[in-house]
This record gives sequence, C-alpha cells and structure tokens, in this order.
Amino acid sequence: MNRKVSVIGSGNVGATVARSIADKELADVVLVDILEGVPQGKALDMLEACPIEKSDARVLGTNDYADTANSDVVVVTAGLARKPGMSRDDLLNKNHAIIKDVTAKVVKHSPKAIIVPVTNPLDAMAQAILRESGFPRERVIGMAGVLDSARMRAFIAMELNVSVENTHAFVLGGHGDTMVPLARYSTVAGIPITELLSAEAIDRIVKRTASGGAEIVKLLGTGSAYYAPASAAVEMVEAILKDKKKILPCSVFLQGEYGIRDLFVGVPVKLGARGVEQIVEIKLTAEEDAALKKSAAAVKELTDVIKV
Ligand code: APR
Repeated sequence: MNRKVSVIGSGNVGATVARSIADKELADVVLVDILEGVPQGKALDMLEACPIEKSDARVLGTNDYADTANSDVVVVTAGLARKPGMSRDDLLNKNHAIIKDVTAKVVKHSPKAIIVPVTNPLDAMAQAILRESGFPRERVIGMAGVLDSARMRAFIAMELNVSVENTHAFVLGGHGDTMVPLARYSTVAGIPITELLSAEAIDRIVKRTASGGAEIVKLLGTGSAYYAPASAAVEMVEAILKDKKKILPCSVFLQGEYGIRDLFVGVPVKLGARGVEQIVEIKLTAEEDAALKKSAAAVKELTDVIKV
C-alpha cells in the first residue's frame, strides 16, 4: 500500500490500533516495541488474519525504528501502567522519559509524520512530544476527546434506547476527572440532549463519562481500557489519511484559543491531510468556560512537573 502508519508500543492499545488499521486496509502498519519478539509475533498474527479480512495491508513487527522510516502517521502508545506504590508523579516522570526517547527515534526516521499521542497522562505526554519533536503544532494531535465523546455517546444511546449512530457528543478539556462534557452541544438526531433527558439523567451521564476510564480499570483489575481508545485513535488516523476534514475533539497545543496559551487541551479541531487544519472555537457559557479553565489548570500542573 502507499500509506504507512507506525504504532509505537505493541501492548493492548497499540496492538488493537494496528489490527484495526490493517483490517480496514487504511495503510501498511509497522508495530514497534522494546520487548523482543512481541511486536514481531503480534504483527505476524495480524498479517495472517489479512487474507480472511480481505486486506492487502502489510503488517511488520520490529524493534528497529529504521523500519518506521517515512511513516505518514505515528501513533504513540508506549508507556508504563501505574503500579502499586507508584505515585502519579513517578508515573509521569517515567512515561516522560519513555516518550522523549520514542519521539527522538520517530522523528529521526519520519520527519514529516503526523504524531498521534495516546500514552497517559495524555495532554502532558502530547506536550512532551511536541517539545521533543520540534514539530509544528498542526502535526501533534492527542487522542482523548474522541474517546471521551464515544463513551458519552454510548451512555446517551443506552439511556434513550436509540442507535449510537444518532448520537453526537462533545467533550472538551484535559483527559482526566476535570474533563468538560458539554450537554448543550450533545445531540440525538440533531436534538440537544437537554431537550430529551432530565437534568438528573444528564448529570448521571456526564459523571459516568468523566470517570469512564476508571470504571473499566476497576472492572479489569489489571490494565486499562483499550478497545474504545484504539477505535478513537483509528478514527483520527483515518480522518488524516483520507483528508476527511472531520471535526473531532482532540488535544492540541492552544495558542490563545479559548483564552488558553502554550498548553495541550481538548477542543474541536478539523482533521485532514495536514493534521490540525483548524481549531474550532465555540461559544461557552461562563460556567462551561470556568470548567474548561479548571481542566486546563490540571493539565498545567502536570506539564510543570515535567517542565515541558
Ligand atoms: N519503546 C517502545 N515501547 C515501549 C517502551 C519504549 N521505550 N516502553 C514501554 N513500551 C511498551 C511496553 O513494552 C508495552 O508493550 O509499551 C507497551 C504498553 O502496553 P500496555 O502495557 O499493554 O499498555 P496499553 O494498555 O496498551 O496502554 C498504553 O495508552 O491509553 C494509554 O493509559 C494508557 O498510557 C497507556 C498507553
């Protein structure tokens, strides 16, 4: 195929992203990890699924970044999960070290790529990638809002017993407890959910969305969500590769938009072949604006710790 996507980290999220890109025949896929054998084994397994999936995507697993050369898009999922006894700052510093190392190697071989960070804490890691890569902000686009919105859409569809295809949801802010699900802009067949659901039901959906990741961590016992995170990353990759000009909530480096400067925060953006082609500024109420600023402050606390 004439398009190439590299996925760094062949764990749960990375492997699921790679599989989905190959199944959809969006591009050839290179799966990279520091673990020896794991990316090679998973990639070969995926390649062997391709005849059944009717996909001619080539899938390669490797430990060598030279194989990622000239990727169109690079999805970064490499990182550690928080272990018992590890503080949030310990995890932040450890993942920052991984991300710096990965970014330097990615950029060396694919200086023109668009990078989609997925590693958590998402907004801070995206900012670290922007700083380390030296890329323009249009080419570093964090995956968070698409996932958070998908969770909210799933809950809206369940509540109203309607097709998920009829739902639309907007979640802004940092990827964490302070995210800002916007009920006013969330709709079913174009009708705002504020017209369809009680304030109590909306509140319940908003709270469940904000703690959507934690709900799954608790159920799994070890590890965190990966099916929906991978689907979200792939929707972004597809919008970029197909130059769809799709408006999606993504974490991007704001430069004064929404009154926020020099910080990655989730806002609606237009995704196309050039990456972020527009940042869409929507009017917020005073209350929504305050919630967004509070969420941005939570991201800033993390970027201050790792000094990016
Ligand atoms: N280079 C490449 N790969 C690395 C590196 C590195 N320096 N360090 C760790 N990895 C790999 C691990 O070997 C592992 O295979 O990253 C992979 C992470 O996979 P999982 O532990 O299964 O984690 P996953 O569930 O995929 O989540 C990855 O995405 O959604 C976020 O919070 C999540 O930050 C986490 C990331």
